[in-house]
Amino acid sequence: MDKNGKRVALVTGSTGGLGTAMCQRLQQDGYRVVAHYRNPDKAKEWSDKMKAEGFLFDLYAADISDYVSCGEMIAKIEAEIGPIDILVNNAGITKDKPFHKMSYEDWDAVLKTNLYSVFNCTRQLIDGMRERGFGRIINISSVNGQRGQFGQANYSAAKAGMHGFTKTLAMEVASKGITVNTISPGYIGTDMVMAVREDVRNQIIAQIPVGRLGGTDEIAYLVSFLASDKASFITGANYSINGGQHVY
Ligand code: CAA
Repeated sequence: MDKNGKRVALVTGSTGGLGTAMCQRLQQDGYRVVAHYRNPDKAKEWSDKMKAEGFLFDLYAADISDYVSCGEMIAKIEAEIGPIDILVNNAGITKDKPFHKMSYEDWDAVLKTNLYSVFNCTRQLIDGMRERGFGRIINISSVNGQRGQFGQANYSAAKAGMHGFTKTLAMEVASKGITVNTISPGYIGTDMVMAVREDVRNQIIAQIPVGRLGGTDEIAYLVSFLASDKASFITGANYSINGGQHVY
């Protein structure tokens, strides 16, 4: 909690479409929101835009793919703001290519940013959460971790790995007041999805029964609910939010 008794929520990759919506929702729901970023220029522009919209976040930088960098960021946040109660592992990138064209670098970057980051942050927060007897860890995976997607062997592997992690950690920390859950968004109207070639994207949208891309706020509402006390019996779960694209 911060010095005013507000629960502290760290959202990684906060300057992206989903991260922004999560930060805004969590702040509106009374949390002290710490926004992680990588690119200082983008973060400055984002922060100015957020202020203009009436949102005030604490911004902290780290290379999320690097264990030491994450540890330094977390130590700084905890010294300056207070212990982190809620961690949203949201940072992620794509490097889409059919597997036979995928380089080691494409594989390595996506695994390190999307999956190693989950270890890097969670491992360096979990002791404090265990000691305090409260914690919420929310991992943002993807429909493509559940079902696979042409061109995303790296991304699908990382996103599937996130839920494997969720299931085990949920069991290990359940008795300590800590819940661990996964959200698997489908195709949401973010820059990441809009970067998919238009013809490919239109084919994908045609496969979504609801008939449209999801809204970022449609993911953020669930993040905020899972962070709350009301969700204390929910752990180890994987929530699909995909407009019916993948039903199983
Ligand atoms: N299914 C089956 N075959 C496909 C295919 C598909 N979806 N896409 C391409 N192919 C085939 C093509 O027909 C072509 O076949 P031939 O060689 O026989 O002609 C072959 O694969 C090569 O196709 P391309 O020339 O299109 O390959 P490319 O290298 O230019 O592009 C790609 C491949 C960029 C990966 C493209 O397929 C693509 O953009 N796929 C979508 C990836 C995607 O959905 N990314 C999601 C990003 S957003 C996100 O990740 C958020 C989230 O969590 C949902």
